Amino acid sequence: MAVKKGIKILGTGSSVPDFEVPNDEFAKILDTNDEWITERTGIKTRRFVQEGETSLTLCEDACKKAISEAGIDKEEIGIVIVGTCTADYITPSMACLLQGSLGLDERTLAFDLNAACSGFVYSLNTAYLLLHGSFKKYALVVGVEVLSRVLDYTDRGSSILFGDGAGACVIELSGEKPFVFEAGSIGGAESLNIPMTYQEKNPFTNKEPDTHKQVVNINGNEVYRFVQDAFPKSAAIVFEQAGITPDEIDYFICHQANLRILMASAKKLKVPFEKFFVNIDKYGNTSAASVAIALDELNKTGTLKRGQKLILAGFGGGLTYGSAYLTW
Ligand code: UT7
Repeated sequence: MAVKKGIKILGTGSSVPDFEVPNDEFAKILDTNDEWITERTGIKTRRFVQEGETSLTLCEDACKKAISEAGIDKEEIGIVIVGTCTADYITPSMACLLQGSLGLDERTLAFDLNAACSGFVYSLNTAYLLLHGSFKKYALVVGVEVLSRVLDYTDRGSSILFGDGAGACVIELSGEKPFVFEAGSIGGAESLNIPMTYQEKNPFTNKEPDTHKQVVNINGNEVYRFVQDAFPKSAAIVFEQAGITPDEIDYFICHQANLRILMASAKKLKVPFEKFFVNIDKYGNTSAASVAIALDELNKTGTLKRGQKLILAGFGGGLTYGSAYLTW
């Protein structure tokens, strides 16, 4: 009988801009303060790109580190998937741009995946499924956001939440490793969206340019309620399918949306909060990049040991959610 293969992560990398914007800076432009932001979200500061930095420059940096750590021949990468909702262009995709700038083989399946904050875990699962039919060994899975270009800096309810960054990993299929994934979507634009805008008047239809801005619109309370239920629900399905219990998990590497959400999730799953990795204080909510950045931080600090059991989970815009079980 064929062994069901899982995922082995061979290398990780991440990249955040140097430019830091602490909560106090928002207090200078909005009716807000460090105390409110810290208490309600756990965020202390975030990074924003500056002139010359883009989604692509962040991706390149993260990917080069991941490929270098993996120690692989990059010619053997056959799949590049970038989870993002703030790509530099509507087309070309970030994944195609990376194929070019990293000098990957032309026979690379490269595309972006928009599942907002679930983007990295959705991409990981998609790469896993595609690798089964690939004639190459490795996939490069990336999460990147430059949310600073779609924030409404007059809205204290949304602008304080987000940050920029990228994370990446190189994976291969392995008969010795597990991979169990569970995902869902509850479609609707009401609680979280970034709208497209007509830039110019259409001379044929007379459709005028939009007056609304291409910025993040979020009903925080609604998204909060959705996330609170979605993560424990999807994690429970993963535990059942994998035949494991929450207390066996070494680290929960979840989307960094809100510290309170992470704490409530630990409580619901009845696991010590110490098992939940937290870096929202440093980077804010980096949407599709957050899980990948967190994974790289745990790796680079030497915290992860081979064989340790991990849950990776994303949840947010779409609405979307997804949880993955794998081992380091
Ligand atoms: O990554 C995608 C997933 N995203 C999320 O999961 C985000 C989920 N949502 C959240 O994290 C929280 O809902 C927020 C952090 C966005 C908001 O926290 P909250 O505890 O739900 O606050 P609230 O929206 O209920 O607002 C409470 C009060 C309001 O004032 P009133 O109406 O009670 O007078 C807000 O106007 O806090 C006010 N407020 C602020 N005050 C100071 C909202 N934003 C701010 C602010 N500073 N930045």
